[in-house]
Amino acid sequence: MNDRFLKVCRQEPADTVPVWIMRQAGRYLPEYRQMRALHPFLELCRTPELAAEVTLQPVTRLDVDAAILFSDILIPIAAMGMPLEFLEGRGPVLGRGVRDRSDVAALRVPDPQSELGFVLSAIRILRRELAEKVPLIGFCGLPFTLASYLVEGGKSRDFGRLRAFIKEDPAGFAALMDKLTDTIIAYGDAQLAAGAQALQLFDTWAGILDLAEYQFLVLPYTIRVAQHLRGRGAPLIHFTENCRPILRALRQLPVEVLSIDWRVPLDEAAELVGRKFVLQGNLSPETLLLPAPEIKSAAAEILQRGRTAGGHIFNLGHGILPQTDPEAARALVETVHRLGVR
Ligand code: CP3
Repeated sequence: MNDRFLKVCRQEPADTVPVWIMRQAGRYLPEYRQMRALHPFLELCRTPELAAEVTLQPVTRLDVDAAILFSDILIPIAAMGMPLEFLEGRGPVLGRGVRDRSDVAALRVPDPQSELGFVLSAIRILRRELAEKVPLIGFCGLPFTLASYLVEGGKSRDFGRLRAFIKEDPAGFAALMDKLTDTIIAYGDAQLAAGAQALQLFDTWAGILDLAEYQFLVLPYTIRVAQHLRGRGAPLIHFTENCRPILRALRQLPVEVLSIDWRVPLDEAAELVGRKFVLQGNLSPETLLLPAPEIKSAAAEILQRGRTAGGHIFNLGHGILPQTDPEAARALVETVHRLGVR
């Protein structure tokens, strides 16, 4: 079993720097596109055998040090009673979105065993198939980012509806955040009970807020989620796509790993958060589109800067782009393993 990912999460010594890639199972892989030609995205997510097969594709091809469950952060939202579709070229669409308190009241906190059992089955299949290979990372979205999709009804550019909702009905927003918190605690806990060995908590859009807004509107809910989920002993990774505005507040999170985007050099992040945290990151996804020598020198610099942190897990700062050459991703993994030797 290659356990260097889990070792570094726990700040134990490992032979080299572990690496995995956000969205490592996805459209840049021809074997994934083949599966997608046969099945809609949500069908892949909701069929345990197919989700498990897609999860394993990058493990086989890239030699990454962890598998991440193939699913989506919006899957539990559908189980809350929100219509969810993924439209070609447009991304997720959630009905007409949550508009007021009565829409919030209509959302249910789903029972993971009966309503999200397909995710738990995929985890059980994967633990069997990965037994001698690498650990399995489960994941869920955090309340603020899930709320942004619910209120906007999909992907948003300026988060205008979300900002208006927060301003016009703060108590309604708090009720929504509470319901999402309860949902995520139950769902994350069920993933860990089913065998997920670490959990990544996605708060992709938290960085649209300034520090004070984040501390008031988001931090208490994230702390509640993390405090509950850490009870099972599995490492927790916090992810946001733009961490600089809120990095000071992230120091308060009861998690082992902070994912850092490419806008903040790892040594600078380490200085701010201290050696208590392992840092994950932080190659920009666009860098993987450059010629091989440039990818290599960018990776070398990140490895160097990462040495000042409490520990370093190499990753991109956000998901791999669909136009990436899989060979560039494979070569990156090899480079990190070679240059990261301790
Ligand atoms: O990392 C992995 O390999 C695991 C699988 C995974 C997916 N989505 C698969 C996916 C994970 C961890 C996610 C998380 C996710 N989903 C986030 C948080 C991380 C981030 O990227 O910011 C968010 C915001 C979503 C919501 C979402 N899902 C959007 C906005 C979209 C459309 C944009 C896009 O990239 O297509 C998706 C679709 C999606 N999720 C795809 C995949 C592989 C593409 C679906 C397809 O095959 O067409």
